[in-house]
Amino acid sequence: MARLLPALASQFFTLSILLSLLTSPATGESYGFAKAINRRELRKEKFSHFRLYWHDILSGRNPTSVMIVTPPQNSTTGFGIVNIIDDPLTEGPELSSKLVGRAQGFYALASQQEIGLLMTMNFAFTEGKYNGSTISVLGRNPVFHKVREMPVIGGSGLFRFARGYVLASTHTFDTKTGDAIVEYNIYLAQSKRLGKVKPNVTESTQIGIVGFASADIALRAEAKGTSSSKEAS
Ligand SMILES: *[C@@H]1O[C@H](CO)[C@@H](O)[C@H](O)[C@H]1NC(C)=O
Ligand SMILES: *[C@@H]1O[C@H](CO)[C@@H](O)[C@H](O)[C@H]1NC(C)=O
Ligand SMILES: *[C@@H]1O[C@H](CO)[C@@H](O)[C@H](O)[C@H]1NC(C)=O
Repeated sequence: MARLLPALASQFFTLSILLSLLTSPATGESYGFAKAINRRELRKEKFSHFRLYWHDILSGRNPTSVMIVTPPQNSTTGFGIVNIIDDPLTEGPELSSKLVGRAQGFYALASQQEIGLLMTMNFAFTEGKYNGSTISVLGRNPVFHKVREMPVIGGSGLFRFARGYVLASTHTFDTKTGDAIVEYNIYLAQSKRLGKVKPNVTESTQIGIVGFASADIALRAEAKGTSSSKEAS
């Protein structure tokens, strides 16, 4: 019996392999919701370089960068701070120069050894043919290093299938206010053909407005409800 067991086990093993081969998905699976894209559409790539200036304004009456999480403990590196940003992106280093888009997202101070930010932001372009197109930047930004490199992990509109990197270098930093102007050099590879298809900006904008409006109405109704219930009680 003791000898039989290993033999039985090996037979069972062979059988299970055979069964798994029979039941494993064979080639030629088809799904109604999936379709291959012609490779030629993707193969043609275009490479571009953009230079923009990123304005992180913490001071004044209209800051574009707002701290939403304060550090949970005393830290020399600000570890734990999170800022939400809607930072102007301009053609030149002056804020008054041409606005080409906005950097929207957040950065978090994620290093305990030095001031090191986790950047998570979309560059939403508003200028000319780039209006409505975005690129997504996600990476590590040790702000006191001369040049910081971060990946571009994707894009939309003209930047569909984009990948690449940015090189960020501080142009000016105000130690009193924390305001910073940073030069961003963006290097992108993107699909030449797919990028030509115009993004459906108007449609999504309309959906956005409808969403906001209904949310606003719901909030107002809620506010009314609470005030009337207060009056009643
Ligand atoms: C943080 O630092 C301040 C001033 O240096 C001190 O008063 C406070 O007790 C510290 N808090 C903690 C949690 O260490
Ligand atoms: C960008 O597109 C939006 C929506 O289509 C439009 O309202 C806006 O005027 C455009 N901006 C520029 C600078 O072309
Ligand atoms: C863009 O929006 C229009 C109007 O809603 C719609 O008819 C069209 O199919 C959309 N195009 C794409 C590519 O989604």
